[in-house]
Amino acid sequence: MKNNTVFNCSIVDLSKVHTIAGNITVVENGDNIPFEVKRVYYLYDVPAGVERGGHAHYELEQYIVAAGGSFDVTLDDGLNKKKFILNRPNLALHVVPGLWREIKNFSSGSITMVLASEIYKEEDYIRNYEDFLKLKK
Ligand code: TYD
Repeated sequence: MKNNTVFNCSIVDLSKVHTIAGNITVVENGDNIPFEVKRVYYLYDVPAGVERGGHAHYELEQYIVAAGGSFDVTLDDGLNKKKFILNRPNLALHVVPGLWREIKNFSSGSITMVLASEIYKEEDYIRNYEDFLKLKK
């Protein structure tokens, strides 16, 4: 398990192309993202009051973007917790490997877009918090 801390994670401004017809934000491998994107997925139709996440990854890192609406992401390295409020489509939270994450307070109609450094592998997940804490020691 990587010994990253919550202080290795930050909000990145992806910037935007502003026109009178609206905005465009671009994420491009080799430009404004520090890993190669292998998978994109998004959460939508999230029922009110639901909490998601509740896991860590051994290797995968990701950008989490509020492509629509807002939600809160709490990161936990076993010692420290840090809460990030995502509410703008041009801001990405860079989540490095080895951190527990919980996502909640989804606004109605919100879209959580995730850009991931790996394809989906269940073996890369730690889904039990006690196991996570042991691995961080
Ligand atoms: P999970 O990653 O646990 O969701 P979250 O952290 O957002 O709560 O995934 C939920 C379910 O979806 C789980 O059964 C695995 C499946 N899934 C895939 O099949 N492929 C994927 O790329 C992802 C992210 C999830």
